[in-house]
Amino acid sequence: MSLFKTILATTGLATALVAGAALAEYPERNITMVVPFAAGGPTDTVARLVAESMSKDLGQQIIVENVGGAGGTLGAGRVASAEADGYTILLHHIGMATSATLYRKLAYDTLNAFEYVGLVTEVPMTIVARKDLEPTDLKGLIEYVKANKDKVTVANAGIGAASHLCGMLFMSAIETPLVTVPYKGTGPAMTDLLGGQVDIMCDQTTNTTKQIQGGTIKAYAVTSPKRLDIFPDLPTAVEGGLQGFEVGIWHGVYAPKGTPSAAVEKLSASLKKALKDQNVGARFAELGTLPSPEADATPAALKAKLESEIARWKPVIEGAGQYAD
Ligand code: MLT
Repeated sequence: MSLFKTILATTGLATALVAGAALAEYPERNITMVVPFAAGGPTDTVARLVAESMSKDLGQQIIVENVGGAGGTLGAGRVASAEADGYTILLHHIGMATSATLYRKLAYDTLNAFEYVGLVTEVPMTIVARKDLEPTDLKGLIEYVKANKDKVTVANAGIGAASHLCGMLFMSAIETPLVTVPYKGTGPAMTDLLGGQVDIMCDQTTNTTKQIQGGTIKAYAVTSPKRLDIFPDLPTAVEGGLQGFEVGIWHGVYAPKGTPSAAVEKLSASLKKALKDQNVGARFAELGTLPSPEADATPAALKAKLESEIARWKPVIEGAGQYAD
């Protein structure tokens, strides 16, 4: 063996050179984007729009895989334990932060199991009901729930879901319990709301806009600080009497800890382009949301958001005394 080859072999330089060359070509095959909720829900909607745009940019298909269950923690766990090679990523939302407190036996260490790619969007929520529920405004809904203690059913996507968080805040605000009906995502939950099998739900506009506009469900409020352009006549929860009731569902993209930084940087650059994609922006606007600003589509911004949101929701969850285990 030549001296050059000996040096290469003994110093591991060959491995590094091969890895570097491979990363220069990254991605060389399909990437799996895990969505930790059932297909057809708000997280799935956001993921498929972003994945389609990133696929065009990267020249490889980003395939969305729905891994629902346990409020998003099963899908997050799937990515935490995946090969850290840049070919498995996760698109998840605020539940990444709330689950860190709600689940005292999580299969992963939230702040140490992932690399951060960037923030994607922050989606408002809507308090909605089956279309034949009697109350005509939020005040009337609150009175109805109080008068029908333990009978009114609320759908959510499991403890740790955005719909669970909003439902928990609603029950705390009105100091009245509801009967919770969990699903693997608010996609399937919407089917039962449309069919009248469940009474109310708090869900993201990315899943309720079409039904509200079509009159197939009833809307009582939005959880954003201001009314939405797509629903100028729909009051905010604060206008409806729920003081301080504001919650936005931020979404981020993650990769398993140890994913090569060159791959993470390429994914982050591609995410930034996707958020500037006119089709993504137009579709987000139709669904009541906006792409995150470019400065937020970065690993540092997502890391800071996750850390601050874990700290923000920990006392709220502990105050409500609701845990998954
Ligand atoms: C979904 O995509 O099904 C929702 O994000 C579930 C939830 O978080 O409420």
